[in-house]
Amino acid sequence: MSNNRMHFETTGQKFFEFSQGCLLLENAGPLRGKATLIGAKNAVLVTMASLLLTHGKSVLKNVPISSDVLQMIHLLTELGAQIHFDKELHELVIDTTTICEFKVKLETVTTMRASILVMGPLLARFGKAVVARPGGCLLGTRPLDLHVRGFEKMGVQVETDGLFYHASVLPFKKAAITKVIFEYPSVGATENVLMFACLQPGITKIIGAALEPEVLDLIDALNKMGAKISFEIPQTIYIEGVNSLSPIEHTVIPDRLEAGSLLLAVAATGGELYIPNARVDHLEVFLEKLREMGHEIREENGVYLKATKTPLAVSFKTGPFPGFPTDLQAPMMTLQTIANGISVIEETVFENRLMQVKELQKMGAQITIEGNQKAIVRGVTELYGREVIAPDIRSSCALVIAGLVARGQTIMTGLSHWKRGYEKLDEKLRQLGADILLIENRDTDQKEK
Ligand code: EPZ
Repeated sequence: MSNNRMHFETTGQKFFEFSQGCLLLENAGPLRGKATLIGAKNAVLVTMASLLLTHGKSVLKNVPISSDVLQMIHLLTELGAQIHFDKELHELVIDTTTICEFKVKLETVTTMRASILVMGPLLARFGKAVVARPGGCLLGTRPLDLHVRGFEKMGVQVETDGLFYHASVLPFKKAAITKVIFEYPSVGATENVLMFACLQPGITKIIGAALEPEVLDLIDALNKMGAKISFEIPQTIYIEGVNSLSPIEHTVIPDRLEAGSLLLAVAATGGELYIPNARVDHLEVFLEKLREMGHEIREENGVYLKATKTPLAVSFKTGPFPGFPTDLQAPMMTLQTIANGISVIEETVFENRLMQVKELQKMGAQITIEGNQKAIVRGVTELYGREVIAPDIRSSCALVIAGLVARGQTIMTGLSHWKRGYEKLDEKLRQLGADILLIENRDTDQKEK
């Protein structure tokens, strides 16, 4: 696609958005081919944070080059780590010997919420931590009450001055078994408490824990460091505290969300895709929903999809693992907008995660929202290319897929979200035959490097 087809009037906010670059998309028919997955963003971020529990040089492999990873590198460097990121090899070397800081700056946390995941490791390493409170975000208020209550159950005092959490480990006689009970299986709260518990005396039992694949990958990495962690279904994790943990070499699990995004893009365009390193056990409910739409899914040595040309609309509800992943809700909704029939989509994990709807409606999708967590989608025969703005990471994927099937050109801005969640997914889609062109603002791009 040539740039001269980019004819659009830009004013004000739109000008700002365009100044950050954009994705140009056209319908190029069915996508076909093979793709391999890079490491999972939501596993690598917490595993990077967990290295604060060790003293020495660790190596993480299969690390995606995304702005969130670069932000976590920046955070750990601020705390005193020595880090080298070999982007050719997707290999991260993190030496935590010289970590000397237990305070995380406000601007660091407001840039990336996942910064809160260093709180547990810093408490374990220093006995104290000062971490800025990440505000709410687009997806909702996203409180941290479960993190705080979990730490308090384990003898940590947590105070806040409104901007920062000030946490310190109180000298107290730990019970033989400390129970932390989560009324909701929060991924981040489970990870924070889990990492802190590894270096606390006695047994910690987390009841109602999150057991997402990314949490299990963290447990795998911690046990490689010398932690003593086991878990049982449903949702209970046991941690027997040890005195110290050692540096590791660890390969991050493949990203189930990248797998889902690629499969949805190919399904929407009526093509075929083989992903040799997709983990079926990370995608069971999602794959079943694609089958219900009429797509053919085979599961030997990875995942193979052959799309149906007459997809049926399916309803689904997001939920904690192994339920339908909330991070695939938006791109799955795009498929329903051009499927045959009506689908009811319920987002139960976040209170405000239907922001892609407004942009999809601009493209001709027939969607009504009930409350702010339920969408009713009536399939239409086609969508229309428009200028759209991605409001969050996973909505950016929903809009890209819509742009690949719409009639006429789609211009998507809000690139910062696209770059946060995916490593060059536009290039992978182009290799499958997509007509997709990334127009970057060189200045912005240089700043991120
Ligand atoms: C992780 O966020 C992921 N982020 C999210 O991915 C993912 O959507 C989410 O888990 C659910 O699977 C990372 O791993 C970096 P939660 P997290 O704590 O840990 C409420 C993406 O697009 N809650 O399980 O923040 C919370 O408000 C991102 O890659 C409390 O009420 O998710 C939300 O409604 C988006 N109190 C729900 O629980 C708490 O103390 C799930 O949050 C903590 C959470």
